[in-house]
Amino acid sequence: MTGSRILSLGHYQPSRVVTNDEIAQLVETSDEWIRDRVGIAARRIAGDETVADMAAAAADKALANSGLNAADIDLVVVATCTSIDRSPNVACRVADKLGIDAPGAYDVNTACSGFAYALGTVDHAVRAGASRNALVIGAEKLSDFTDWTDRSTCIIFGDGAGAAVVTAAGEDEPAGVGPVVWGSVPERGDAVRIQGWRPYVAQEGQTVFRWATTALAPLALQACERAGVDPSELAAFVPHQANSRIIDGIAKRLNIPQAIIAKDIVESGNTSAASIPLALSKLVERREVPAGAPVLLFGFGGGLTYAGQVVRCP
Ligand code: UT7
Repeated sequence: MTGSRILSLGHYQPSRVVTNDEIAQLVETSDEWIRDRVGIAARRIAGDETVADMAAAAADKALANSGLNAADIDLVVVATCTSIDRSPNVACRVADKLGIDAPGAYDVNTACSGFAYALGTVDHAVRAGASRNALVIGAEKLSDFTDWTDRSTCIIFGDGAGAAVVTAAGEDEPAGVGPVVWGSVPERGDAVRIQGWRPYVAQEGQTVFRWATTALAPLALQACERAGVDPSELAAFVPHQANSRIIDGIAKRLNIPQAIIAKDIVESGNTSAASIPLALSKLVERREVPAGAPVLLFGFGGGLTYAGQVVRCP
């Protein structure tokens, strides 16, 4: 049972930057309110790009950074809740675009916790011997599901993708992806939803806010415990980028003053399943976290699902 590790990362964001002032022309809101209450200054909104286009662009970069090539990849897993097509799934489309021959290919939909869930399933596949080199991707085009007349949601979301190449760790190498702690609160699953035919995102924001700031820190600490990593050793905390105040609230309870707290939300908004790999990829690209250092990932959102694990930075 060899563990797995993240070998490399990559990300893609659409070029169009949408500022808070631009959104204030659509609904009654202001740059000041959005910055204060959510922590977002701008977000990227896709044009013609599909979820699969963005996923493939991020995966292509992760693959280029890995030293491997398409022929080495045997599994593609995409976390998304905003793919419009029911089939083929996004993973197959990504494999086709990148010329990956005959990989296992499936999508995971646990909304904003999707990347940590997908990484968990890939780690299990590697441990079980079902994969040696995998692509794990979080990709979302939330703008397709946004009601641009609803100020309680349209200020929040953005589009983008992040990807990781995950490989089997060597026999004598410590696992670079820690055990996943995952779960959900199905009885409150409707608190964030994209439901029905031609749906929009809707949510009970305060319910989610309270849940996130009270219930999640102990679960994130469980992920540290299961990885055998003391929180004081964490080099960085990369939670789902839902709201700056939620991120600060969880980080405070984790008591990790030494750790970098990812705040990609400021520039990217809430990109659901893409937010963790996007933020992590940028931290690594900027060399803010040393290779091998422990980083706590923690996703949460629709379902109400959550998942997190400690990974070693590539
Ligand atoms: O990623 C998926 C998981 N989702 C989340 O994690 C979301 C968690 N929740 C949140 O981040 C926050 O609850 C929101 C950002 C969604 C909302 O912030 P809030 O501080 O909880 O605001 P609120 O809903 O309590 O509204 C406060 C006031 C209300 O006015 P009144 O009733 O007090 O007069 C709202 O009508 O702010 C008003 N408001 C706005 N004002 C200006 C709501 N949205 C806006 C807006 N601009 N965009």
